[in-house]
Amino acid sequence: MSDKKYYITTPIYYVNDVPHIGHAYTTIAADVLARFYRLYGYDVLFMTGTDEHGQKIERAAEKAGMTPQEFVNMNSQVFRDLDKHINSSSDMFMRTSSEEHKISAQALWNKLYDNGQIYESKYCGWYSIRDEAFFAESELVDGKAPTGAEVEWVEEPSYFFKLSQWQEPLLKYYQENPEFIGPDSRRNEVMSFVKSGLRDLSISRSTFKWGIPVPQNPEHVMYVWIEALSIYITALGHPNVDSDKFKQFWPTCVQLMGKDIIRFHGVYWPAFLMAAGYPLPKKEFAHGWWTIEGEKMSKSIGNVVDPIALTNKYGVDPVRYFLMREVPFGKDGDFSIHSFINRVNSDLANDLGNLSQRVLSFVYKNCEAKIPAHGIFTEADNELLNMAKALNKTIFDLMEKQEISKICEAIWAVIGESNRYIDTQQPWSLRKTDQERMQTVLYVLMEALRYIAILTQPIMPDSATKILEQLAIPFAQRVIDSIDENILKPETVLPQPEGVFPRIQLECI
Ligand code: ME8
Ligand code: MG
Repeated sequence: MSDKKYYITTPIYYVNDVPHIGHAYTTIAADVLARFYRLYGYDVLFMTGTDEHGQKIERAAEKAGMTPQEFVNMNSQVFRDLDKHINSSSDMFMRTSSEEHKISAQALWNKLYDNGQIYESKYCGWYSIRDEAFFAESELVDGKAPTGAEVEWVEEPSYFFKLSQWQEPLLKYYQENPEFIGPDSRRNEVMSFVKSGLRDLSISRSTFKWGIPVPQNPEHVMYVWIEALSIYITALGHPNVDSDKFKQFWPTCVQLMGKDIIRFHGVYWPAFLMAAGYPLPKKEFAHGWWTIEGEKMSKSIGNVVDPIALTNKYGVDPVRYFLMREVPFGKDGDFSIHSFINRVNSDLANDLGNLSQRVLSFVYKNCEAKIPAHGIFTEADNELLNMAKALNKTIFDLMEKQEISKICEAIWAVIGESNRYIDTQQPWSLRKTDQERMQTVLYVLMEALRYIAILTQPIMPDSATKILEQLAIPFAQRVIDSIDENILKPETVLPQPEGVFPRIQLECI
């Protein structure tokens, strides 16, 4: 096991809704990072799961005529199926209705309680069930939550967390750890929210039952957010914080989420952790928001994109690639079927698909289906080879900054250069004039393709594997560790090449 550790999480999704492309997006992004770190030799833990308590779920279950537990069992499975379907390599699928989580969440509560961070009082104010969030009168916009959700007036006994005491420690932490919240736009937003003043936070509810009981008072359930956030440490065996697992993985943790919930992850969560005396994760990164054909995705508009239907129609890898490549990670994006098809046809069918198909079928036909031997490399050969080799470090630096779309750009720059190299070197003309040079050119192209395919595995695992099979690269050599040493061996027998990325015909839409 490697001593380099990496822990990555997605939000745990509410099970009142069916999964859509937004949920698939976060999970795919986390999966791409998890796979990249594994490729680079890290010991990775990748956690996802479902958020199953709270008033919203209780009401949805009631509407469905089921007990909350039956309802969450059924719907959690739908998210688990999605996880498999989009080829997520998650190591843990956590559920908040599990016994281990109850123990962990109550232990966090008790830690805060024992540290004098919790007091009993009464909450009077507005609550949005859709957001599962409290709002002050001054925050309402036209009588609704800032998110547009309906609010209800709530007046009930409640426990409070002394969030106000954490304003200065949080600000100091953001200052001293500029990498803690990303991207910068979100960091600025969080800092100005904290600077504007933090009020104590209501952290229990007493007017419904579907939640984890407050240890000191079973008439109350824990507020769904304090409970849900603690899943990230439940997954590491909390409350046992002395285990190697907790000590090694927690400080390496990168947490991904949409910008809708950065406040919970960037403010409340680190405040709970500091107040409990726990270390903080490494990073809270909030990506942007997808709209569909220019509109907000919503059930009432009827434009919710189902990731299962989309991937069944066009394949998992093209969808993964599109979502990762189309929008700089952290920025908002728009999903339209035309931009999807254009991107898939140009980047996959044309650029990568043509490169591998042209090179591999040419070698298959003209080099007796074996990896050709090469002569001395020219300047042009070395230029392409060096560009491919340089990807290794470029990509690692981008991974560390969660710049996933730039990783795609960097790989596709080498693909573009390889295609230009074919056009200038013209192996098909060399076949008649200089077979030796032709072999060198093909060898260089296959080497470039080897780097490209190895480094594309995290983004499109199945397609990259197909290319690696066609290059006859042994499984153990598909990692970064020895990528510069495991160069292709002339005379290796190659299988018959097959196209990997079919073009999407417009009539398929
Ligand atoms: O908030 N664009 O769960 P949730 C991009 N249970 N991402 C989107 C998206 C869109 N249009 N729609 C959803 C919750 N997402 C809580 C989390 S964590 C301790 C508790 C993604 O089911 C994005 O990751 O409402 C967003 O943050 C998440 O789904 C919200 O999922
Ligand atoms: Mg939501």
